Amino acid sequence: MKINGQSYHSIWLHPTDKNIVQIIDQRFLPHQLVIKDLKTVNDACFAIKEMLVRGAPLIGATAAYGMYFASLEVNSVNELETYLIEANEKLYATRPTAINLQWALQRQLKAIGAVSSLEEKRGTALQTAQDICKEDIEICKNIGLHGLPLIEEVSRQKQGEPVNILTHCNAGWIATVDWGTATSPIYQAHNKGIAVHVWVDETRPRNQGAKITAWELGEHGIPHTVIVDNAGGHLMQHGMVDMCIVGTDRTTYTGDVANKIGTYLKALAAKDNNVPFYVALPSTTIDWELQDGLTIPIEQRDSKEVTHIQGLSNKEITKVQLTPAKSKAANYAFDVTPARLITALITEKGICESSEAGILNLFPEKKQQVYEQGI
Ligand code: MRU
Repeated sequence: MKINGQSYHSIWLHPTDKNIVQIIDQRFLPHQLVIKDLKTVNDACFAIKEMLVRGAPLIGATAAYGMYFASLEVNSVNELETYLIEANEKLYATRPTAINLQWALQRQLKAIGAVSSLEEKRGTALQTAQDICKEDIEICKNIGLHGLPLIEEVSRQKQGEPVNILTHCNAGWIATVDWGTATSPIYQAHNKGIAVHVWVDETRPRNQGAKITAWELGEHGIPHTVIVDNAGGHLMQHGMVDMCIVGTDRTTYTGDVANKIGTYLKALAAKDNNVPFYVALPSTTIDWELQDGLTIPIEQRDSKEVTHIQGLSNKEITKVQLTPAKSKAANYAFDVTPARLITALITEKGICESSEAGILNLFPEKKQQVYEQGI
């Protein structure tokens, strides 16, 4: 998508040095566009853990490049064998909730393990990371194409009046490699000339909505309004939300959805007000081994993200303290929305009910794995 009229992806290989990967450092958005070089496994770990990159698909893509860096940091195949195990563990430990991380690491280990020489392993690691990025773009684009008719239908019913869509956190292009998940149908609709307006939940404590979603939509010319996290229920009661679309960090094969903290409350409010609640996701975010959403590991982050807030003051990015110095704070980063509250899942393969039957119907190749686990 575009920043200042110029096309960007969220992660890319340096144009002249293939040992360097570049990212947009999301900690400084929307106030500064900072491009950062990643060169080592430790750089990749730092970028994921400190949220220079964030969003489930982009976390996976960055981890894949992290494994490529591991292959560059050794001098022999023997060394690489143990080093890859260490790199895998380090990268895996960065953020526990997004399953794309584990998925990308496993794909890299399998691909690198399938070739013999160090040169081949390096080449394969790079190719796999690039393939993951390329595929993610295609997947997210297709999520948008499948979600588009849902928006078109409401637009028809409203005779062209703007379709009001509420979203939480940032499941936008910068949380993926391009297009985004929740935003992809919105971009597709806007590009087709359908009038849309997005209610952007600010998404405390890191404010991914207020900072990143609002910035993304603005850069693309999409009308939007930032609201405090607690406003959604009120808007739904007053008929001001036509549908919710959110992303997910991990979805069980039974359709329970882990996403940014506060998603569950939006789904409850949507159910109470008969507002359709959609979750947009690539199949790489489905955990084919987990049945019960409440067993998804929920990341707890530094309480400073709650006690302090970051913004722009006199053209400088500054952090200020919000809470009394002696108050404790807890920072649960995700919650789980049970399948029963979700109207449908929007995937790259189409739309389905958020249930085991619905998901397996779209991804029949996973049936055997799921059934064998149940035995
Ligand atoms: O903590 P974050 O900012 O990485 O959380 C991101 C989300 O919760 C997104 O909704 C999710 O990863 C989907 S991204 C397409």
